[in-house]
Amino acid sequence: MGIMSRNRILMTTALPYANASIHLGHIFEHVQADIWCRFQKMKGNECVFVCADDTHGTPVMISAQNRGITPEKLIEDIQKEHFADLTGFEVEYDNYYTTHSQESTELAQSFFKAMKAEGYISEKKIEQAYCEHDKMFLPDRFVKGTCPNCGAEDQYGDNCEVCAATYTPDEVKDPFCVLCKNKPISKESLHLFFELNHFKDFLQNWIGGHTQKEVTNKMMEWFEEDLRSWDISRDAPYFGIPIPGYEGKYFYVWLDAPIGYISATKNWADKNNKNFLDYWKNEDCEIHHFIGKDITYFHTLFWPAMLKAADYNTPEFVHVHGFINVNGEKMSKSKGTFINARTYLNHADPMYLRYYYASKTSPTSDDIDLNMDDFVGRVNAELIGKITNLASRGVQMLHKKLDGKTSVMDPDGEKVFNISIAAQDRISEYFDQREFSKAMQEIRSIAEDANKYFDEKAPWKTIKEQPEETRKVLTSVINIYKNILIYLKPVLPEYSKKAEQILNLGSLSWSDLEKTLVEHPINEYVHLATRIDPDQVNKMIEEEKKNAPTKPDTKISKGLPLIEFDDFMKVDLKTAKVIECNEVEGADKLLQITADVGDGETKNIFAGIKSSYSPDQLLGKTVVIVNNLKPRKMKFGTSEAMILAVDTGNGLSIVEPEKQAKPGVRVK
Ligand code: MSP
Ligand code: ZN
Repeated sequence: MGIMSRNRILMTTALPYANASIHLGHIFEHVQADIWCRFQKMKGNECVFVCADDTHGTPVMISAQNRGITPEKLIEDIQKEHFADLTGFEVEYDNYYTTHSQESTELAQSFFKAMKAEGYISEKKIEQAYCEHDKMFLPDRFVKGTCPNCGAEDQYGDNCEVCAATYTPDEVKDPFCVLCKNKPISKESLHLFFELNHFKDFLQNWIGGHTQKEVTNKMMEWFEEDLRSWDISRDAPYFGIPIPGYEGKYFYVWLDAPIGYISATKNWADKNNKNFLDYWKNEDCEIHHFIGKDITYFHTLFWPAMLKAADYNTPEFVHVHGFINVNGEKMSKSKGTFINARTYLNHADPMYLRYYYASKTSPTSDDIDLNMDDFVGRVNAELIGKITNLASRGVQMLHKKLDGKTSVMDPDGEKVFNISIAAQDRISEYFDQREFSKAMQEIRSIAEDANKYFDEKAPWKTIKEQPEETRKVLTSVINIYKNILIYLKPVLPEYSKKAEQILNLGSLSWSDLEKTLVEHPINEYVHLATRIDPDQVNKMIEEEKKNAPTKPDTKISKGLPLIEFDDFMKVDLKTAKVIECNEVEGADKLLQITADVGDGETKNIFAGIKSSYSPDQLLGKTVVIVNNLKPRKMKFGTSEAMILAVDTGNGLSIVEPEKQAKPGVRVK
């Protein structure tokens, strides 16, 4: 990976799932990719940075169902949110697209056809957990039960969080569907497989040199045995891309997800008068993927094999990073350290985190600790104390006392300036190799030299008696700062824009390093950055704690924790009479109910009970409702209460008072 050899680059970050918000772990990936991209662009390389939302799969489908909206609506909303959050951290994409697109459909289908034509696709019937109530096959994460090894209840179908045993979903004792709690059955269905083992030799040779050494070494373990075929089909209902020639079957989301890299490129290329094949089928283009270590397998085995099978370029480099921990531990919702991007932005400037992440980035896949005290300390001591102070002190003094105009550097200043220029190859190399922590170290060291020079010359002492000598000192400081700014530009784009303004310069690029600002009027100092207050971080964590679910969000408990009587009394259970009941057009599970809730008041309710009741059966019934449930906006209108029903395992059964009761009576 020589620096000079890059001419055209297509780069990507992993596509965030459309069923969750962006958090500071994602930001680590996107910021490091953005820094790398901005650096390449500053060096004059053609670099196209694309990303998209990863929109398909069961979790998205279920999440939409739970909210009473279509998956299309859900992914549209989430994409807007993701884009706002990511660009809120000054990440600049050439295109941020979606995998739910015409381009993705066409490309995924054409990949499949190519793979099939070459004989890489096989068919096999397999048994899988199926929920007869939800009428769907259940992915591993949707089956829970008792661990066959240690007996712990409520464990996922593939591994136990208590004893760490791994097993298959049919080994779990008392399995249940996480959606409806019913026992799944085992059902047979035809699946399509990608025969990965055809690519064993190719992959084994390819991988070295195309990702970090440590990653290559770890991946080598896979080659000790034959590579297992990969199940790429899922049965309806599935929110995904239909498999041509196989009615009712869809591509597994991980098949179309990386193809999203290509479809995002195609969508960009079509809008910009370019040809996406110049990036994906032309040897002159280098493809760079930035990913977290958990998805290495997909990017260094399946994906290059798919590309090879369909005759596309394989990646030049897969840059694998580690996971972000907060304060030395895995991000945790209950501790408030699972920090969403938006929560951070509500309390602090994104440049601080960009600076900190850059200072911690190295080309390994080791986990990174976002230690909040260290974060505050380093930002204040380095970005503010060492770097920004150079500009604020230098520029303000030049303005106040010397009309804001530079002259020439003095010999001592010139020495430091030359040091700043001499660092350029090292810094370039570090940026190019994702050694950002070392680049930052170099930049800091220049700032330290500059501060030392500044303090030794003590211009505040000489300004009265020797104004022209002092002007030279300030000129030196400003010129050195200009070079620091050039080096920092990929890391702090917004900050740099403001600083360029102050220095009365256009957009700086790498080639401006050797230029000197001589007899150059500069603008008045405007505020560049303030110290970060530890309280801002505390507030961030407090806000997340408030958002945290009271029980761990991954656990769907069979029994709930004990509650106080007062907690029970907070639930306003009331009788209500169904006075109107209709089907809802476009919703196959919902009925719309108008209920008399007493005192002449009525409520509009959407209830998911159509599978068990017709409107006629409900009309006139006295039911029990949760009267003080916050109204919920759904696609079809607002639901103002909830009707109690029992899941009998054989359909739903409405809860009714055994004797006649008026509507609006409290149930307790
Ligand atoms: N949708 C898949 C990627 C498909 S790429 C064709 C996915 N999505 S994700 O939202 O779960 O993760 C997106 C990226 O964020 C991954 O590279 C993942 O490793 C990274 N991270 C998720 N949590 C992270 C941390 N806590 N720390 C750092 N990166 C982490 O996987
Ligand atoms: Zn179910």
